[in-house]
Amino acid sequence: MAELKKNEKIIELIDLTRQFEDGVVAVDNLNLYIRKGEFVTFLGPSGCGKTTTLRMIAGFDKPTSGKILLNGEDISLLPPNKRPINTVFQRYALFPHLNVYDNIAFGLRLKKIKVTYKDKNGNTFEKIEKLKKAEITKKVEKALKMVDLEGFEKRSVSTLSGGQQQRVAIARAIVNEPKILLLDEPLGALDLKMRKDMQLELKEMHKKLGITFIYVTHDQEEALTMSDTIVVMKDGIIQQVGTPTDIYNEPKNSFVADFIGESNIFSGTIVGDKKVRFIGHNFDCVDEFEKNEKVDVVVRPEDVVLLDEGKGQVDGKIVSSIFKGVHYEMIMMVGKTEIVCQDTVERKVGEKVSLHIEPDLIHIMAKEFSSNKYDGYITKKNTVCFGDGEFECDVTQLYPGSFLDEEGYLITAEGDKIDLTDVDVNVEVGLKDIEISDDQDAGGAIGNIVSMIYKGDHYQLIVRTDENEEDFVFDTEYTWNENDRVSVIIPKEKIKLTLKQEIKR
Ligand SMILES: Nc1ncnc2c1ncn2[C@@H]1O[C@H](COP(=O)(O)OP(=O)(O)OP(=O)(O)O)[C@@H](O)[C@H]1O
Ligand SMILES: [Mg+2]
Repeated sequence: MAELKKNEKIIELIDLTRQFEDGVVAVDNLNLYIRKGEFVTFLGPSGCGKTTTLRMIAGFDKPTSGKILLNGEDISLLPPNKRPINTVFQRYALFPHLNVYDNIAFGLRLKKIKVTYKDKNGNTFEKIEKLKKAEITKKVEKALKMVDLEGFEKRSVSTLSGGQQQRVAIARAIVNEPKILLLDEPLGALDLKMRKDMQLELKEMHKKLGITFIYVTHDQEEALTMSDTIVVMKDGIIQQVGTPTDIYNEPKNSFVADFIGESNIFSGTIVGDKKVRFIGHNFDCVDEFEKNEKVDVVVRPEDVVLLDEGKGQVDGKIVSSIFKGVHYEMIMMVGKTEIVCQDTVERKVGEKVSLHIEPDLIHIMAKEFSSNKYDGYITKKNTVCFGDGEFECDVTQLYPGSFLDEEGYLITAEGDKIDLTDVDVNVEVGLKDIEISDDQDAGGAIGNIVSMIYKGDHYQLIVRTDENEEDFVFDTEYTWNENDRVSVIIPKEKIKLTLKQEIKR
């Protein structure tokens, strides 16, 4: 195997897929390369396939399809002990009955190496041998020094703190001098302070050892501080690969934006050339999108500048303020929208303020628009308020097998009586489930047609309400005119409701 230079590809994952027997696709057609000496972090929520990916790289699990290349050679079917890779797991699997020295030396004692000898005639010959005791001691001491645990050799591992045990686990992994170190949430079991310390130590160790680290975490802050490259995953699929700054500043979609750090995500509409409308204002932006396109707009809290009322782009009111050590985290309400802002200067709760956002700090992402979603609440009996309107709905869908009694109470299949008045719900309405009428009393909400786009065999229309600029997007075969004032009709069986929170009985 030829030695790689730093920055050459050491690992390549090609169309890597792992489907479990029960049908779950834990890793879905992953394509990625990792450079020699890089600190790469897999980041994503629980169940997104991080551990499964790592286990395949380590050799503990086999791909259903696709390949893993190490230095360009396919190792997908190679057993773990034949790979120059070591793993540190989330739950440090130390031997509790062995002391620190023996835990670390365990693998070395099993290791066999080729040793070259010369016979008395000067001919060389090779023998497979175990490591000598003195060599083992030297290696163990070096590893202990690396994790800052010199002198701990004789200690029983059960007397060590969590952080110390974790360091022993790391020492045990690096003592074999792997080319690649896999770390699966190695700091997961530690408290915050210890985590922070260990993060720095691991980063330092990565620098000293010069080997490739593949790290797994679901903690975005940890990923941002430690990595050269972050791979954001969701449902077995890579969402974005990039440096911490790339991922933080230029998230590719609203999932990444939401997962990486605090952010404000608004639903917006492109209203012109480099102009986007959200929270009731047309903002200048730098991204180019098609007019009328529905977008997600991401603004980081630190990029919202708070000014005195009337001095900025949009006015609102501070409804909460928390001191976070260096800055204040404040929530500003604009209409019904909450905007999280950060500043070192506090604005008091109740203060009327104005916000300003620079064009290049407004990040816009195309939205995959497949249905209308609203926040709503149940009014009396069978009606729901959303989208600046009130619509008839069927509340029994919230509880399978339920019905309404004469007084309008919902009776569940178990016979429990539930008062749904004012209960918050998620409302979803499909693009094909909305009609409009010239008759303003015919529907549940009233607005103007703000957009009509021809989509080949039908039109896609947007009706926008006056008060909160709620949009109803739908497909129709009929032609209308922009600016027509119409009412929105939705058949009650087409209004899909889910509870925001389980209701206590
Ligand atoms: N042996 C298995 N059999 C069936 N399904 C599995 C198996 N191992 C994992 N899964 C499923 O595969 C998906 C990915 O699991 P994985 O352990 O890779 O997630 P993860 O990103 O490491 O999550 P966490 O952050 O919770 O550790 C999950 O839906 C999980 O339930
Ligand atoms: Mg895991």
